[in-house]
Amino acid sequence: MGLLDLSRELMRRCDALGAISEERGQLTRTFASPAMRRANKLVGFWMREAGLVVREDAAFNLLGRWKSKKRGAKTLLLGSHLDTVRNAGKYDGPLGVLTAIAAAKLLREQGVELPFHLEVVGFSDEEGVRYHTTYLGSRALAGTLSAADLAHVAEKQIIKARRRRREFLGYAEVHIEQGPVLEAKNLPIAVVTAIAGQSRLQVEFQGTPGHAGTVPMNSRQDALAGAAEFILTVESVAAGRSGTVATVGKLTVAHGASNVIPGHVLLTLDVRDQKDSHSLAAVRTLHAKAKAIAKRRGLKLTWTPVQQAAAVPCDPNLTQVFSKCITQRGLEVLKLPSGAGHDAVALSEICPVAMLFVRCQGGVSHNPAESIKTADVAPAIGVLADFMQALAVRYA
Ligand code: GLV
Ligand code: MN
Ligand code: MN
Repeated sequence: MGLLDLSRELMRRCDALGAISEERGQLTRTFASPAMRRANKLVGFWMREAGLVVREDAAFNLLGRWKSKKRGAKTLLLGSHLDTVRNAGKYDGPLGVLTAIAAAKLLREQGVELPFHLEVVGFSDEEGVRYHTTYLGSRALAGTLSAADLAHVAEKQIIKARRRRREFLGYAEVHIEQGPVLEAKNLPIAVVTAIAGQSRLQVEFQGTPGHAGTVPMNSRQDALAGAAEFILTVESVAAGRSGTVATVGKLTVAHGASNVIPGHVLLTLDVRDQKDSHSLAAVRTLHAKAKAIAKRRGLKLTWTPVQQAAAVPCDPNLTQVFSKCITQRGLEVLKLPSGAGHDAVALSEICPVAMLFVRCQGGVSHNPAESIKTADVAPAIGVLADFMQALAVRYA
C-alpha cells in the first residue's frame, strides 16, 4: 500500500475507534473501561493484519510485536494512547498508535528486516481521567509506579506490566500538535523539543451546609463561594505569569441542591510550564492564596498534591534522526515544545524519547471538533517508516 492509501485507511480507522465509547453520543474511553477493552480488540486486529504479534499487558496496554531475527536485539517502542478525555476528539492518542501500525505495515510489505524488535503500543491511560493521575499504563510498563501511585488505583495488578529498562533502545510517538503553530506556518509536521511538566492537585474546601433561606449572608461558610474565588485566583495568577497555564477542570459539589448552602467542594487543579521551577512557584503561590481565602471565609482547606511530572527534553539523537528524515522528504524542519503531556514523559525514565507533531485544525483538541487532514498523515507515516530505516542502519 502507498502512503496515501495508508493515510486514508488510518482516517477510516480513527472514525471506527471514535465510535467506541463508554458514553452514548460522545467519545469517552477511560482507563480499563469496557470501551477501552473493545478498542484494544479492534486495534489488536489491525496490528495482526500488519503482521504483529499482539498481547495486552497487566496494565491494559496493547502491544504488537515484530520480532527481529537479530540475536540480542533491543526493542524500539512506537505508539501513543488509546484512552481519551470525556467528550473527546478522535485523534488525540489513536493517531500515534495507528501511524506506528501503518509504518510497520509499510516496512513489512517492502520486505524490510529490522535489527531491533519493533513494538507498537497503545497505552491505556495518558489522560488520567479515571484517577486524575496521568500515564498509569506507560508508568506501569516503565516500572516507575510508586506505592503511593498504586494506593488510589483499584487495579493493583498493573504493577506486573513492568519491563526491563535495558530492553528498549528508544520510544517515539506521533501526536496531533494540539496547538496552532503548524497551521500558522503551513506545515504538516514538526519535531518536538521538550514536553512541559505538570502538577496535578486535589483541593478541598469544607464549610458548613445550611438552609439557603434562613442563614444570613454574613454568617455563612459557603464552600462553593470559596472555591469560586479560588478558581478566579487560579486564572489571574497564571495569566500574570508568562509561560504558566493553570486550570480547574472538575468541580464536585457535595449534596448539591438549589436550597442548600454548599458545605463541601472538591476541585482539581492542573498547573503547567516548560520550566519546572516556574510551575512549582505558581503552585506555592496558589496554595498561599487558597489558605488566605479559606481563612477569611471560615473554611477548612485540604491541599493534596496528586502528581508532579517534571518537564522532559526529547533525546537530541533521536530528534536529529527525525529532523533528517523530514528534510529528506523535502519538508522544512519546525521544532516545537509540547504544552500537553504525553506517554513519552513516562518512557523518558527508561529510554531516550522523541516525538513528531501533526497539524490539527485550529490547534483544537480535547474537543469533539478535533480534525486533521489525510494529506498531513501521509508524511507522518513516511517519516516514521524512514526513522525506523535510519535506526536500522545505525543498529545493523
Ligand atoms: C493530556 O492530554 C494532557 O496533557 O493532560
Ligand atoms: Mn494525548
Ligand atoms: Mn489529551
